Amino acid sequence: MTKENWKLIQASKSVSVEIPEKLAQGKYRSWSIENATYPKFEKFFQIRQPRTVLECGTFEARTTVFFAKLLGRFKPGVLITVDSPLPLESEVPGKIIFKKSDPHFEKVREIKFKRLQWLKNHSEIQIIFFEGLIQDCLELILRSYSFDFVFEDASHVAQVLEKNWRLYNKYCQVGSVICFDDVVENPIWLRFNTRDWIFRFDPELNQLWAERLSA
Ligand SMILES: C[S@@+](CC[C@H](N)C(=O)[O-])C[C@H]1O[C@@H](n2cnc3c(N)ncnc32)[C@H](O)[C@@H]1O
Repeated sequence: MTKENWKLIQASKSVSVEIPEKLAQGKYRSWSIENATYPKFEKFFQIRQPRTVLECGTFEARTTVFFAKLLGRFKPGVLITVDSPLPLESEVPGKIIFKKSDPHFEKVREIKFKRLQWLKNHSEIQIIFFEGLIQDCLELILRSYSFDFVFEDASHVAQVLEKNWRLYNKYCQVGSVICFDDVVENPIWLRFNTRDWIFRFDPELNQLWAERLSA
């Protein structure tokens, strides 16, 4: 992203997206659209108008709803979102440990499916939900679609992101933008080790944004 565009997306403080009551309610955790990340996404979508978006980490489909609304402004659009079929206990490189049971997980799943179903019936964009582990389906997804924007908000383990990064670097075209949320290791981009991308870090939101400049 150019310095100018980067400044522009930092500058916005509010959103103009309206979330229907049906989608906002039924919260397990509070959903604040005032959160600084939403105005930033809105501004980014206005400036870059992405048509294909991948979200890693659906959770309750809050960001999914937001992206779907933004994509709906400049049709056509495709939004793919991925989340685990089972509650995750912890993740270490190469190994995921699942929780035996988690009543919260079922609640989150119920909210997620309600929102996704509503979106499917009410938006003109294509919405695809993959219930699976990112590790198992990321390469297949990246081979099948060319993404303008990726929101990486599933695993925050540095070694896992490094592995995913190799796939982004292999499959994403020039102009693709990836936002890594809640970066745990700073500067993680040193692990990514490539000159084809420009990296910008937002210390307030702890987000790393990467844009492919060359192939
Ligand atoms: C931080 S939440 C996503 C929040 C959502 N993007 C939002 O802003 O509302 C992370 C989600 O990623 C999922 N997740 C974490 N690691 C994953 C993996 N390896 N494969 C699939 N899903 C994963 C978790 O189940 C959880 O729902």
